[in-house]
Amino acid sequence: MKKVAVIGVGITKFGELWNSSLRSLTIEAGTKALSDAGIPGEEVDALYTGCMTGDMFVKQGHISSLIADYGGLLPVPSTRVESACASGGLALRQGFITILSGVADIVVVGGVEKMTDALGSQTTGYLASAADQEWESFNGATFPSLYALMAKRHMYEYGTTEEQLGLVAVKNHYNGSLNPNAHFPFKISLEKVMGSTLVADPLRLFHCSPVSDGAACVILASEEKAKELRDDPIWIRSSGQASGAIGIYDREDICTIDSTVNAAKSAYKMAGVTHRDIDFAEVHDCFTIAEIINIEDLGFFKKGEGGKAVEDGITSLDGELPINPSGGLKSKGHPVGATGVAQVVEVVTQLRGKAGKRQVKDAEIGLSQNIGGSGGTAVVHIFSR
Ligand code: COA
Repeated sequence: MKKVAVIGVGITKFGELWNSSLRSLTIEAGTKALSDAGIPGEEVDALYTGCMTGDMFVKQGHISSLIADYGGLLPVPSTRVESACASGGLALRQGFITILSGVADIVVVGGVEKMTDALGSQTTGYLASAADQEWESFNGATFPSLYALMAKRHMYEYGTTEEQLGLVAVKNHYNGSLNPNAHFPFKISLEKVMGSTLVADPLRLFHCSPVSDGAACVILASEEKAKELRDDPIWIRSSGQASGAIGIYDREDICTIDSTVNAAKSAYKMAGVTHRDIDFAEVHDCFTIAEIINIEDLGFFKKGEGGKAVEDGITSLDGELPINPSGGLKSKGHPVGATGVAQVVEVVTQLRGKAGKRQVKDAEIGLSQNIGGSGGTAVVHIFSR
């Protein structure tokens, strides 16, 4: 099979960025990624941008044209990809498939979101549009409340504790304190998590990812181009995508996200590896319970044992299987459309051995997992040096 590499990465600071617009964030990340790849815009054959809410938060539609235009890439074919919080991961998959098809040699994959200019009540409603509008959101369900139901059930079924949920946040904030681009680059204690405001029982403020602005970008290349342009390309070994029920009321088991299980199965098969070969992973911790469920669904731990693994330090930066060395969505931030691409920026930085103080030891194979909504979509990618 043909091979596809990541040859450039770029990311903006994540946070409440009042001086930056949706377009300026995208262009900043894209310019950094092209410069990292060492290629001019003229070499680009196609552009994909993951963006979930541009037409809601900043009332900007037709993002594909906007980004190609302001990125100086006209007349390159440009496509916006939307699949809720999995928009970035899916944009990467589209770029990967486009190169595999032979249609393009160089593809720019970006992800962006500008979320902090809206009122809190608007924000929650916009995000809830990714749940089942008729049966969930219309009746008052929000993402914190949906994940709270999943947390309650996980605690009931497996004895997962509030402390274990809190320790996910403590770990990810520690990692994020080593990431200068993180929205909240500071450490927190378990006491601080447990004492924070209750958002949706049992989830407190520090169990939730924040509402963030930010953009990330990666440059993909065909095998021939990658070898021509870099000594250290990072290979995309596989891409898996799967869909699941949009509403959690329609699932057999709300402690499992089937789309992740299925996307991971495809990704492991295509890469010819198992979960045991993965050295570290960036997973979708939109709420701390999501990280626990994800590390189980990816096969790293048996169902019900994710919380204990976090408590035992296995998923810490210096543990056997570091999870979210970037700080994850919890500390690094969650500009929804950018998240899936930002995960890849981190995986590539780690595999290049350039992650500084948060470098994972002996990182050879990394995995990224990006979820849309409460699990209606999941995308899993595997990378190696
Ligand atoms: N973690 C830590 N601190 C947070 C935070 C978070 N997730 N969200 C906000 N804060 C901080 C703010 O920086 C602010 O601190 P300050 O008073 O020192 O300035 C304070 O908490 C209040 O911020 P505010 O923006 O008023 O919070 P809020 O109550 O409007 O929102 C949440 C808090 C948890 C409801 C919001 O972050 C949220 O909705 N998160 C989930 C986003 C989501 O659903 N994403 C999609 C997932 S599928």
